[in-house]
Amino acid sequence: MPGALAGPLIVLTGNEKGFIRPCGCSKPALGGVHRRATWLEKLRKEEPGLHLVSVGNLLVHGGQQQRMKFETFMMSMDLMGYQALAPGPGEFSLGVDYLLEMRSFASFPFVGNNVFKDGERVFKESVRLGDGPYIVTGLVPPLPGVAGVVVKDPVTSLKEWLRTLEVERDRPIVLFNGDRKAAVTLASAVPAVWRDRVIIVFGGAFDGPFELTDTAVPVLSVGSKGRFLAYLRPEARTRLSHFRLEEEIAGQEDVTMMLEGYRQSLADEKLVEKYPRRPLENGYLGDASCVECHEDSCKLLDPTPHERAWASIKATNDHHDPECASCHVTGWGDSTGFITEAKTPKLINVTCEACHGAGEEHVNVQTKTPNGKLGKGFCIRCHDPDNSPQFDFAKYWPKIAHPPEGK
Ligand code: HEC
Ligand code: HEC
Ligand code: HEC
Ligand code: HEC
Repeated sequence: MPGALAGPLIVLTGNEKGFIRPCGCSKPALGGVHRRATWLEKLRKEEPGLHLVSVGNLLVHGGQQQRMKFETFMMSMDLMGYQALAPGPGEFSLGVDYLLEMRSFASFPFVGNNVFKDGERVFKESVRLGDGPYIVTGLVPPLPGVAGVVVKDPVTSLKEWLRTLEVERDRPIVLFNGDRKAAVTLASAVPAVWRDRVIIVFGGAFDGPFELTDTAVPVLSVGSKGRFLAYLRPEARTRLSHFRLEEEIAGQEDVTMMLEGYRQSLADEKLVEKYPRRPLENGYLGDASCVECHEDSCKLLDPTPHERAWASIKATNDHHDPECASCHVTGWGDSTGFITEAKTPKLINVTCEACHGAGEEHVNVQTKTPNGKLGKGFCIRCHDPDNSPQFDFAKYWPKIAHPPEGK
């Protein structure tokens, strides 16, 4: 690492989109706040003066589980020594009043330049990093559907804020949690005198950090899903580099315990059991009810990984997490489908009805199964790019192909 010669290091994160930890569905399982903490501890030994800020959007939507996750994020980020968080639309979806309460939950400030309630800015306008020239602010795009706050136009707010700073002294860093197009617009609105001084940071859709080209001022993406750390050295020749949080990095002990605590509180709150379900009359029966007439398919599928899907999440105490159980059980989201292991023991794992639909009517009168012809596209509802990046129907289907040839 070039160290002091290259000027201060500002570590940028954010845009986790709910990924507080990797799910382990596929290898390598990158990222997670527990690994981030380990790495930052190590990095701080080499660069004691490093700065650390988050562009927000730790989450994508609201709800009880997301609040519990947000609090776990806050505790872990407190421990890591964050200096600022710029809450984004994801945080606002937790509810404005809740977010205002959370301002004092973590010891680092929330920054937000353009969000007002009753005429007052709800977060700090800006935060200076140490006593150097770097001063950080947060800007959010318009927040449709968020009641109780007024969001001023980011471009106007940026210009107004810059007028309160001194070109000779300050180097502003704008944490903007809007999309790429809006970030470019923001960059082009930076007044000429500030062009060499301002840096804009946003989330971006890709996993890894990158810098946009052809923008009026530098516009950097921190990447997404917490898999990378973006390293910003404003004074170095190469401004942006990154570090990938590899699977081999052991989790920092305290943060690992916080994640355990999060899992346990999902269990205590019974979130899997309380998950809202669509009313359905047709019952799920479990694969034992299919054996009688589809013996060969049942035998064939019994040893396949779908039949150990529940054990896979139970091994890490993740079976109380709706965000895991949803793809690792049968009949998720239907009132007659999986509820809990105790109440619906036949519906753990990905069994026949996870794909073919509730089987009760079919067993009674051999009607067509509810989901009809499934086709290649069906698998993607669970084998999505996050959880099964290697998925290829032509390679996966032969491993579970049934019924046997000739039937
Ligand atoms: C969107 C559906 C989906 C969700 C949500 C999901 N999984 Fe998975 N999981 C899968 C699929 C699909 C696979 C198989 C991936 C493959 O082999 O391509 C898998 C595989 C796994 C495996 C087995 C890995 C192995 O090598 O045997 C584990 C462990 C696992 N998931 C844990 C979790 C945990 C923990 C969560 C919650 C944080 C979770 N999953 C959420 C779909 C999902
Ligand atoms: C009492 C016998 C019987 C039972 C029990 C039974 N099936 Fe069937 N199933 C049939 C018959 C008969 C057919 C139509 C002939 C064929 O294609 O084999 C059929 C066809 C199917 C088909 C293909 C046609 C379609 O509707 O898509 C699927 C899928 C299927 N069954 C799934 C299941 C599942 C899942 C279960 C367990 C919940 C189950 N069956 C239980 C008798 C049964
Ligand atoms: C309800 C969610 C769900 C659906 C739908 C689903 N899968 Fe899976 N699949 C999983 C999970 C979860 C695992 C991981 C099981 C484990 O190892 O714990 C998995 C694992 C697999 C594996 C094993 C991968 C390996 O490690 O070798 C294959 C093969 C597979 N699925 C094929 C398919 C195919 C083909 C389809 C569509 C016809 C499909 N799956 C539909 C959830 C699903
Ligand atoms: C991971 C998803 C998945 C699971 C689990 C699964 N199937 Fe299937 N099944 C399919 C797909 C995909 C087909 C191919 C036909 C299609 O695309 O609908 C199929 C075909 C069938 C057929 C023949 C249908 C036809 O049109 O000829 C039967 C019968 C059947 N499955 C029964 C079962 C039984 C019984 C089980 C449990 C032991 C089971 N399936 C588990 C996905 C699944």
